[in-house]
Amino acid sequence: MASNHALILLGPPGAGKGTQAKLIAQRLGVPHLSTGDMFRDAVKRATPTGLLAKPIMERGELVPDSIVMKMVEERLARPDSGKGFVFDGFPRTLPQAEQLDGILNRLGFGRPIVVDIRVDADKLIQRLSGRWTCSVGGEIYNVFDMPPKVQGICDRDGGKLVQRADDRPEVVTARLVAYERQTKPLSDYYQRQGVLETVNGAAPVEEVSRRVARIVDDAVRRDGHL
Ligand code: AP5
Repeated sequence: MASNHALILLGPPGAGKGTQAKLIAQRLGVPHLSTGDMFRDAVKRATPTGLLAKPIMERGELVPDSIVMKMVEERLARPDSGKGFVFDGFPRTLPQAEQLDGILNRLGFGRPIVVDIRVDADKLIQRLSGRWTCSVGGEIYNVFDMPPKVQGICDRDGGKLVQRADDRPEVVTARLVAYERQTKPLSDYYQRQGVLETVNGAAPVEEVSRRVARIVDDAVRRDGHL
C-alpha cells in the first residue's frame, strides 16, 4: 500500500528553504511545518516557549532539542498530519533527526524525501541582509533579487514588510557556525539512509523549485504518494 511521506528541506540559513517550502507545500496540498516560524510566532505571543526561545534565537544558537521535539510532536498530533508534510528548518540536529525517524515510523509514513539546498556562504550573507518578510502572511522577499512591487508592502496581502532580528550580520555569523557544527552532519545521516538529494540553491527560485518538484515526483512515483 502506498504510504505518505515527509519532505525535509535541509540547507544553511538563507539557502531558500522557506521560499521553496511554501511553493512545494502549496503544490502538494500538504502542511508546511517551519520550526523557525513556529518559534517566531511563540516569541510574538510571549508564550513560555517563546520566552525561552527568544534570547537563544537572538544569539543565533539552536533551541534545545527537547523544546523543539515537544512543539513538533504537538503539531503532528493535529488531524491534518496524515497527508504528509514539508519540513523547513527541522530536523536540525542528529537527535532531532533520529527522533523524527521514530515519529514517522509510528505515523506509518514511508522514508522521508530529503532535499539539501546548497548555496555558498558569501551569497547567504548577502541574501539574509536583503530579506524582508510580510508581517501578516509570511511572504518572503529580497531587495536584490525578489523585491516587492511597492517598497515595504507585501504584494499578496498588503501587509507591512519587516526584517528579522536574527538577520543582523553578527547573528548571521553565529547561525552559520551553528549550521556547520550541528546541522551539516545531517546530510551524511540521510546520505547513509539513501534518501538524500541535493539541489543548487544559487539558481533562480523557479529553477530550484522545478528541481525540487522533479525530485518529489520521482520519489512519489517510486515509493507512493506524499
Ligand atoms: P529558521 O527560521 O529555520 O531560520 P534558518 O534555517 O536560519 O533559515 P532562514 O529562514 O534564515 O532561511 P531560508 O533557508 O528559509 O531562506 P529563505 O527562503 O527565507 O530558524 C530561526 C531560528 O529558530 C534558529 O536560528 C534557531 O534559533 C531556531 N530554530 C528553528 N528551528 C529549529 C530547530 N529545528 N532546532 C533548534 N532551533 C531551531 O530565503 C532567504 C532570502 O533569499 C530571502 O530574501 C529570499 O527571497 C531569497 N532567496 C531565496 N531563494 C532564492 C533564490 N533561488 N535566488 C535568489 N534569492 C533567493
